Amino acid sequence: MNIFRKKNVDQLLLEAEEQPNKLKKALSVFDLTALGIGGIIGTGIFVLTGIGASNFAGPALVISFIIAGVASAFAALGYAEFASMIPVAGSAYTYGYASLGEIFAWTIGWDLLLEYGLASSTVAVGWSGYAVSLFSAIGIDLPAWAINSPAAGGLINLPAIFIVGIITCLLTVGIKESKWVNNIIVVVKLLVIILFIAIGTSHIQVSNWHPFLPFGWQGVMTGASIIFFAYLGFDAVSTAAEESKNPQRDLPIGLIASLLISTILYIIVTLVLTGMVNYTQLNTPAPVSFALNMIGNHWAAALLGVGAMAGITSVLLVDMYAQSRILFAMSRDGLLPHTFSKVHSKFQTPYRGTWIIGILVAALAGFTPIKVLAEMANIGTLFAFVIVSAAIIVLRKTKPDLHRPFRVPFVPLVPILAILFCLYLMYNLPIITWIRFIVWLILGLIVYAIYGSHHSKVQLEDDLS
Ligand code: ALA
Repeated sequence: MNIFRKKNVDQLLLEAEEQPNKLKKALSVFDLTALGIGGIIGTGIFVLTGIGASNFAGPALVISFIIAGVASAFAALGYAEFASMIPVAGSAYTYGYASLGEIFAWTIGWDLLLEYGLASSTVAVGWSGYAVSLFSAIGIDLPAWAINSPAAGGLINLPAIFIVGIITCLLTVGIKESKWVNNIIVVVKLLVIILFIAIGTSHIQVSNWHPFLPFGWQGVMTGASIIFFAYLGFDAVSTAAEESKNPQRDLPIGLIASLLISTILYIIVTLVLTGMVNYTQLNTPAPVSFALNMIGNHWAAALLGVGAMAGITSVLLVDMYAQSRILFAMSRDGLLPHTFSKVHSKFQTPYRGTWIIGILVAALAGFTPIKVLAEMANIGTLFAFVIVSAAIIVLRKTKPDLHRPFRVPFVPLVPILAILFCLYLMYNLPIITWIRFIVWLILGLIVYAIYGSHHSKVQLEDDLS
């Protein structure tokens, strides 16, 4: 048994073409960019900016955003090269299979399942918070037992389970329907952000930017490793490879355009926010609405609340979508049971995997105080970025002649910078996050040893030949 066996790139492309379990090709370059923005802009900007500015970085949070954005941009270039070269489902998991070998692929896949699962659960709990405050704004107070997990003093978080259920149904019914919902939400989300910038700019008081670095550079770096959460999601574009109409051209554009648009908006929103309100006042779960309320613009604050809720919904949609496609790819390769890659005959979606994910995410979001674990989503993503960047260097050396419609510039410099940036952000995360992450990876290796290594299709093919 060879745990370092690799997938041949030509064979990967052929397999995707000849699959009996085929996904529907429905996504254009616009849809892919919207998918990226749908997955990127959410809890990070609407919730974490407040905590980031008040507890860690002060007005210099804008530098934290730039640092995390640069790390993401370097990694995104690697994703773009891979996505154009190997446009099949599975994202970093598949790239790992083609370049580094099965055990690395498994580890990345297992890591991504954690990343998206935790991000989805966290985001669902965030959505529930907004829904509860919206209800209370119109005079309906939901009972405490039904809106909090046991550890948070309740019994069950029903709104969180409700939204996960709706998204699961939507993802089951079809990619076309999901894409329309996502596109509409993305437009709403962008409009409310632009509204905030337009209103907020004229209320900036330069004195709020002094002192600019109240917590020093260490605060800026810790801030960067926390608000890195805001950038999670662009990699979801690459999971849509088999549903994209012209993946080789459109995936790199979708990846880079969505990240660029989001980064620019993050930088402006952070500057405006910390200019409108003193950072010491920003320790609130809804900082952007709070800032608008502070200047007395209550209708804009309410509108922003609704927009934020819509925005967070699309993050959930994209994260659960991406997770189901990773599961689909791992199951199709035999590393996980076959049932996860079964495609519905009418809807052409991997419905069983989608439902299993829906149930797990709902259980986590409904019964767990998931907020502490948001950092784990970060460590998982950063780890995937490190491996993808390393894989770019490896594949350029081992397979220099592969057709690469998009190429990372200045290899190996850019991937090395991506690795260093990501490792540094990982280093700034709490030790407990590291411990939990390592435990998850060890658990994954046990599952691989018991199941995946014996059922791997590549292994079975090797045995036959
Ligand atoms: N980037 C996503 C968000 O901020 C996960 O909600």
